[in-house]
Amino acid sequence: MAGSPVAATAPSPRVSPPGPGPGTGVPVAIRARPDGFVVDDMPSTGPLVDRFGRVHRDLRLSVTDRCNLRCIHCLPDEDASFHPREQLLGYDDLARVAEVAHRLGVTSVRVTGGEPLVRRGIAEFVARLSTIGFEDLSLTTNGTELTRLAPALAAAGLHRVNVSCDSLQADRFARIRRRGELSPVLASMDAAESAGLSPVKVNVVLIVGVNDDEAESFAEFARSTGRAVRFIEFMPLDGGGRWRPDLVVPTDEVLARIHARWPLEAVPPSGLDASQPAEHYRFLDGKGEIGVIASVTRPFCGTCDRLRVTADGSLRNCLFAHNELSVRKVLRGGGTDDDLALMIRRAVWAKLPGHGINDPAYLRPERSMSMIGG
Ligand code: 5AD
Ligand code: SF4
Repeated sequence: MAGSPVAATAPSPRVSPPGPGPGTGVPVAIRARPDGFVVDDMPSTGPLVDRFGRVHRDLRLSVTDRCNLRCIHCLPDEDASFHPREQLLGYDDLARVAEVAHRLGVTSVRVTGGEPLVRRGIAEFVARLSTIGFEDLSLTTNGTELTRLAPALAAAGLHRVNVSCDSLQADRFARIRRRGELSPVLASMDAAESAGLSPVKVNVVLIVGVNDDEAESFAEFARSTGRAVRFIEFMPLDGGGRWRPDLVVPTDEVLARIHARWPLEAVPPSGLDASQPAEHYRFLDGKGEIGVIASVTRPFCGTCDRLRVTADGSLRNCLFAHNELSVRKVLRGGGTDDDLALMIRRAVWAKLPGHGINDPAYLRPERSMSMIGG
């Protein structure tokens, strides 16, 4: 059997950031405020940087924690709870946060949820974001409303979409999502491409005993459609609390299995991809590519440049963070753009070097994926 393409071809593209931090031999002075956010030596100008030298350029904006589905890796079936609508940030506030982040050097914005396309007025909001001038403006969706909205989103200035799709078998797809069907989601990918929202990326979460036999089918799908399929490791962020380490399908296994059928080579990161969590691989015969997001087995915290705003207006510097800062309070308390900028800087400055989910003492965050925004 062929080995992993990681060993067989290019070396891992991951690099550690320069600067102080664990393993670098350079101590970090940390003084925490009562809210857990450090402020020592924080620069008040220049790029949005953390204590480990990571410059932040990517903002994930969640516009709602609601979703019309209940995927098993994300939400519980029956008693999913959502924030009351009055706690959600309005589009004006979200756009203001995006503008301030842009001024601080953020170049890439992804609109997320829950399911962002269930919030009314989403195309108008995207149009507003698009006037700010980000280099990359994308949206992650479950595809259920995408066929209807793709033309308006493209006209609004959206660049591209990521569509979640965890099985290519209709019955299994329905079991994973608990609601909804496969064929409209596949059709929505066509609709997105016809509207010019490309490249369409397809997010796949493989779970042991659920859909772990579909790595090869999705690779075939990537080869036949030209869509970049991205295998995301199952993370301990499911609302149902079912996650266990042995349910994670390790990225190395996915790559080795696909490589055995269709040899792959690593694509070195470049440009906007350089700090992306996905590692890219192309098929040696030239027929397309895949990506892997090995959050659990090969954490990529060293190059992370992401900051998140939840739908209820909390700044999170990591998917797995336990502390948040509330931009909602600043916005509703009449804060200025400078106040917002300071809070964004503080959130980034306080980022830890890594998520620590493989530490036996790790405690999962209270928020699940749909409440954070992927
Ligand atoms: N682990 C990994 N990925 C998840 N997603 C939702 N929940 C999880 C989880 N627990 C995915 C969604 C979507 C993306 C934003 O995150 O399927 O594609
Ligand atoms: Fe909804 Fe996405 Fe969570 Fe599925 S993974 S329940 S589509 S937010």
